[in-house]
Amino acid sequence: MYNVCLIPGDGIGLEVIPAARQVLEALGIAFQFTSAEAGFACYQKLGDPLPGVTVEACRSADAVLFGSVTTPPNMVGYKSAIVSLRRELDLYANVRPTISLPIPGARPQLDLVIVRENTEDLYGGDEDYGDERAVTRRIITRAASQRIVEFAYQLAQTQQKRKVTIVHKANVMRATCGLFLKVALEVASRYPDIQTETMLVDAMAMHLVKDPQKFEVIVTTNMFGDILSDEASALSGGLGLAASANIGVSHALFEPVHGSAPDIAGQGIANPLAAILAAGMMLDHLQEHQAAERVKQAVVQTLRDQVFTPDLGGSATTDQVTRAVIKNLG
Ligand code: NAI
Ligand code: MG
Repeated sequence: MYNVCLIPGDGIGLEVIPAARQVLEALGIAFQFTSAEAGFACYQKLGDPLPGVTVEACRSADAVLFGSVTTPPNMVGYKSAIVSLRRELDLYANVRPTISLPIPGARPQLDLVIVRENTEDLYGGDEDYGDERAVTRRIITRAASQRIVEFAYQLAQTQQKRKVTIVHKANVMRATCGLFLKVALEVASRYPDIQTETMLVDAMAMHLVKDPQKFEVIVTTNMFGDILSDEASALSGGLGLAASANIGVSHALFEPVHGSAPDIAGQGIANPLAAILAAGMMLDHLQEHQAAERVKQAVVQTLRDQVFTPDLGGSATTDQVTRAVIKNLG
């Protein structure tokens, strides 16, 4: 029996998390689901985007399945619930795979994974507000750099990948990226069987579009990883198909890469496949590899059958896609 904490959040999170839950319930595995609140609607109701009870519910779960939250950009001091939750649970590794999927325009032969440091960098929240001068501090530590790069090499070993690309901008941000690169190369030297390459982030952005097949594991700091993984998701179906894992020492949280999509929320047309693939990553984490594979194959079959929501050029609803996936579980 697995205890899974569901946090739908805001916007389309409220549509795609129930869809992922239906798929999990169709697998014949014993899950106990608990639900918890977070996000902007939660803030409006309770005065806190991430109440303590939600953090506690996550701590006592075997895994967390998170939808998406709205973060209004213009509210001074408001902190994104997901950014806070990643820090509370010390989910230091953000893992975002990109594989080729059978949809129009997807690039062939992709099998890459971006491993992004998830706790520091410019997203640490160390900021000075001001109308004339504003500051966001970028803090990079040896400890966090070491454990994220170690995680990336371990993942490369487990997934039988041959190459790790370390992405940085140490030619300009000499202090912070310099430390990250130095520590990354120290870790790399302990993995002689895996090829290591280093790349500047701007060059990486270009190569990711031009030759994405050349990459296997990419490891980088928080903000670069955030941007590059959205870029990578566009190579194979876009945000409606991109799933991610947030892994820590004692906790793990799985979520679609997309946000709350206010432009389509409430219409029943959000693509649930990113959330369903995130549930698939959760199954792998729970060592339910066979079930994870069934979910992945069911998603692939649904795409082959062209049961597409509007983001993929079709007219299927969230519910129709979800039912197709469940049917394809076999
Ligand atoms: P977004 O990912 O919500 O939407 C970007 C575009 O992609 C929109 O046109 C949306 O309709 C489309 N889209 C996203 N997911 C889709 C899906 N499953 N099916 C079909 N279309 C989909 O990003 P945006 O608009 O920049 O942000 C909206 C809100 O979400 C903001 O408040 C932002 O702070 C928040 N956000 C939250 C995240 C999280 O909870 N992890 C991540 C990114 C943004
Ligand atoms: Mg992002």
